[in-house]
Amino acid sequence: MVRIQDLTFEEYISEERIFARTSQLAKKINVDFEGKNPIFLGILNGSFMFLSELFKQITIECEVSFLKVSSYENQTSTGKVRELIGLNKSIDNRPVIIVEDIVDTGHTLAFIKDKISSFSPSKVSVMTLLHKVAATKIPHELDYVGFEIDNIFVVGFGLDYNELGRNHRCILAKS
Ligand code: IMP
Repeated sequence: MVRIQDLTFEEYISEERIFARTSQLAKKINVDFEGKNPIFLGILNGSFMFLSELFKQITIECEVSFLKVSSYENQTSTGKVRELIGLNKSIDNRPVIIVEDIVDTGHTLAFIKDKISSFSPSKVSVMTLLHKVAATKIPHELDYVGFEIDNIFVVGFGLDYNELGRNHRCILAKS
């Protein structure tokens, strides 16, 4: 059992299973993107551990870059304002692989895909370590999924609870 602030967590997906699945996904990418020189776009902060593990096993020509979604409450309206930081012309005419830690409702991914397509990538693929299928509000075609999980709160392997818990080597689920 692991305690983070007021919550307790139990191991849900072991480090071994994460590594095995990441290797399978890397092998698939090595085949699917051979000769295509894709650019991996990791979404910070959550994807950093997954992407670094994956990237070590990519053997084709490729690049990596990171994007950050910043959200803040607009003072003059009720809406949440979001920005995508780090996008630039390097994705023009290139196949892009978005790398996410988790797709929950799908709102964040919808926002990211919309911003990315305002540049001119030749193709946009999506990879996510985790997918909470039952939480879907905006459905997406997810090209590479590590694990489909229940609609539960998880931390570890890059994912956080109030910014804590990202350092755990496995995925932990709230007890
Ligand atoms: P969505 O917009 O609802 O798909 O949420 C995506 C974002 O919410 C992820 O990138 C995470 O930052 C966060 N998130 C959703 N579910 C979890 C969870 O179980 N643990 C930690 N973060 C989560």
